Amino acid sequence: MATPIVLDCDPGHDDALAIMLAAAHPALRLLAISTVAGNQTLDKTTRNAQRICDVAGIRNVPVVAGRAEPLRGNQVVAGDVHGESGLDGPRLGPPVTPVTSTDGIGYVRDLLRARPEPVTVVATGPLTNVAALLLAAPDVAGRIDRVVFMGGSTGQGNVTPYAEFNVYADPEAADIVLHSGIPVTMCGLNVTHQALADADVQQRITAIGSPLARVCVELLGFFASTYRDIWGFPAPPLHDPVAVALLAEPGVVETTRTRLDIELTGTFTRGATVVDLYRRTGRPPNADVAVGLDTGRFWDMVVAAIAALST
Ligand code: BDR
Ligand code: CA
Repeated sequence: MATPIVLDCDPGHDDALAIMLAAAHPALRLLAISTVAGNQTLDKTTRNAQRICDVAGIRNVPVVAGRAEPLRGNQVVAGDVHGESGLDGPRLGPPVTPVTSTDGIGYVRDLLRARPEPVTVVATGPLTNVAALLLAAPDVAGRIDRVVFMGGSTGQGNVTPYAEFNVYADPEAADIVLHSGIPVTMCGLNVTHQALADADVQQRITAIGSPLARVCVELLGFFASTYRDIWGFPAPPLHDPVAVALLAEPGVVETTRTRLDIELTGTFTRGATVVDLYRRTGRPPNADVAVGLDTGRFWDMVVAAIAALST
């Protein structure tokens, strides 16, 4: 049976590909797409989710809008990485896919309560919505099978030396999710930086020859330019689809059970994920953390998803 999931995201170039993989992979059943402020403001990330559903022909998956601000602290967006629209690059028309609810947290709460089986939450933006949901309706923790999130790192960050964007944007939210009692899997930069959409990958997507494939290549082109300019990367890393792949095909992402803590107060390190890979703290393991990626299988999955949505 396909794993039922809710995808909570902030599209975002790599979120866009995560939506496609979640919608197309036969091992997953995408029940809803909820949006959160992150890469851009909530109005823009929601609009981008709608436009990706339009261009990818994803119908009958509700798009619902969640929180516009982090639980605590100032809002940060990533316009330098994803552009003014949050999805700069391709020319996408005004959205046609409707926003099913502007109370996305209430919508997901009701969905979880109504489903016969527990649902997995895949989060590819700041964890604001997931934490807000657990604060507002603690009973739904028992309705969530696990939370798989793209965020954090076992090493260096990308916003500050040790903080990755999704956790940095709302560290308290990440901390609440981590301490919720729900099984948590972290898929961080140490792994997603291996998912580089290089010329070979872009050629494979181009070869699909569909309008959707063209949009994907244009998205990757913009993403490549910001990753080159800001971080000097040779190709753009597709972070968010790695979290979806982890769930869809066990073995594509290797994980280890370890201790994970979120730095909330560090002078230089607020938003850092502290991962005790060498078991030095004696603190009990509380999370599964991604440590390896089968890049060949990963790109096969991404290319297959774009091809499936192109037919
Ligand atoms: C994460 O931050 C965003 O820029 C991406 O969409 C991804 O979710 C990477 O740090
Ligand atoms: Ca994202």
